[in-house]
Amino acid sequence: MGCEIGTDLKRAADIIRRGGLVGMPTETVYGLAAHALDSQAVARIFEAKERPAFDPLIVHIPDVSWIPRVAAEFPELAQKLAARFWPGPLTMVLPKVAAVPDLVTSGLPDVGVRIPRHSVALELLRLSDCPIAAPSANLFGRISPTTAQHVADQLADRIDYILDGGPCGVGVESTVIRLSPRPCLLRPGGVSLEELIRVAGPLEIVASTDHPGEIGQAAPGMLPQHYAPRTPLILDPPEDRLLPGRWGVLCFQHLPPEREFCAREILSPCGSLPDAAANFFAALRRLDELGLDGIVAELFPETGLGRALNDRLRRAASGFAG
Ligand code: TXA
Ligand code: MG
Repeated sequence: MGCEIGTDLKRAADIIRRGGLVGMPTETVYGLAAHALDSQAVARIFEAKERPAFDPLIVHIPDVSWIPRVAAEFPELAQKLAARFWPGPLTMVLPKVAAVPDLVTSGLPDVGVRIPRHSVALELLRLSDCPIAAPSANLFGRISPTTAQHVADQLADRIDYILDGGPCGVGVESTVIRLSPRPCLLRPGGVSLEELIRVAGPLEIVASTDHPGEIGQAAPGMLPQHYAPRTPLILDPPEDRLLPGRWGVLCFQHLPPEREFCAREILSPCGSLPDAAANFFAALRRLDELGLDGIVAELFPETGLGRALNDRLRRAASGFAG
């Protein structure tokens, strides 16, 4: 049962043009792709993911000449950010054109737009000749996929084809920013805050698990619980805390001293945050598949990609009493 995994771009583009669903590799995570201007195709995304309709989708385009197909304005600051970060893991929220269905934006007047830095995604966009809406290709609230097989594990029975572009190089989702009335970070991601500030100047930070109410209004998808394994996940427990049963650990660089775990994932022995990000979701998935009583995860340094990784960890842990 389930759909095929392959590298047939022409077949994938035909499916997109006809309103079907394709698993699509990008540099961040795999996306669940559909024709962004076809509201029935977009409705299938929500159905396949079991995603609530208040969570807007990101629309992908292959180059800035397609901006007028999706956005009514492309202000100077957006152009500057595009020149620096596109193609790449940055999503900009811009006023939408009428052709973008309300379902894509959850009724908001703005649409999230990005140009992915992945040759397979860019080729699929050009062959399909339409903007592509793509959330991460996982069931709603679950761990994001970074390989074609991850997509198949959760969605094979619900979609039409999966394009295999190898493992994702960045490993965390795009950074989402809004530009007006003033620049504002809605979701930390693959472009670090430090890099953004260098180009955009000071940014307001709305994306924070500390203020779920505010986030609810600014970026509807930033729910406190997200990216979650089925196994209970707790963050940085005190050294003396008793953990009954079989526990696994997810750590950045070193194992915590003097603690016994029956499974361990060390994300980057040399301490590289980009390497850790590239391994993060796959490692969390491997631990989740062991049927453990719980997973302990260590928070990352709060700089560069560490900010995006900590955001994902806090959301992944927030549903568990811990
Ligand atoms: O890296 C990525 O961004 C991946 C790949 C596939 O491109 N996509 C992705 O999509 O992460 P998704 O659906 O998992 O996350 C989309 C999030 C929403 O939950 C919301 O926080 C924000 O992007 N977003 C999208 N459109 C928005 C809008 N119009 N206004 C505010 N936030 C928006
Ligand atoms: Mg997602």
